Amino acid sequence: MPMPAAVHPATDRAARLKAETRQVHEQLDQAIMALDPFRSRDHYARFLRIQWAFHVRIAPLYADEGLARLFPDLAARCRLSLIEADLTDLGFAKPEAPGTISVEPAEALGWLYVAEGSNLGAAFLFKAAQKSLDLGESFGARHLAGHPEGRALHWRQFTAALDAADLAPTDEEVVVDGAKKAFAFVRVQVEMEASAAGLPATSARGI
Ligand code: HEM
Repeated sequence: MPMPAAVHPATDRAARLKAETRQVHEQLDQAIMALDPFRSRDHYARFLRIQWAFHVRIAPLYADEGLARLFPDLAARCRLSLIEADLTDLGFAKPEAPGTISVEPAEALGWLYVAEGSNLGAAFLFKAAQKSLDLGESFGARHLAGHPEGRALHWRQFTAALDAADLAPTDEEVVVDGAKKAFAFVRVQVEMEASAAGLPATSARGI
């Protein structure tokens, strides 16, 4: 009998990342909404600056050749230029750039999970930007727009590649650690915006 072709069974890495970061994601959502980002375009700029800092930080990952072998459409997924265009549309300056990261591939997968997942959840934010601020996919909310193929399909393609990546068992914790670091980085940006706006730290309000 012919032997079946060797295939790498897909892991449940994406599902595990979701479970392990559920709480920090919820806390981040609440902290962002506490900035009241859809009250006005000036408030929305707070959110854009947070997004910009995060995507500047991870931009090198989207240009990484090794990671591009795992995610063939990786470079096209980078949304940094869209965030910059959103800032320009609205006449807002780019804030001071944070340093970029250079991390090992397993940790990079965690950071990428957070960045790509945030586009799935952005459906709600996109609608709010349209409704409250009259922004859209060609002005001011470019980076929140869904992929032409649909957000869900675009996300499933990413998670399929994420699940299929061949890692050593000991690397699984490193992936989760990368995702937690990414959420923590974004959270710090939120707190910096809150402080610049004269709002109390969200943690002081139990978020
Ligand atoms: C107020 C702000 C936010 C809200 C209301 C929100 C809401 C959501 C929602 C509803 C989903 C699930 C979408 C679906 O399953 O169809 C989601 C997914 C996700 N969001 Fe957010 N989000 C927010 C901000 C963020 C930010 C800033 C990040 C990271 C930088 C982020 C990371 C993620 C990730 C990684 C997922 C994918 C979860 C998974 O299915 O594995 N979100 N978000």
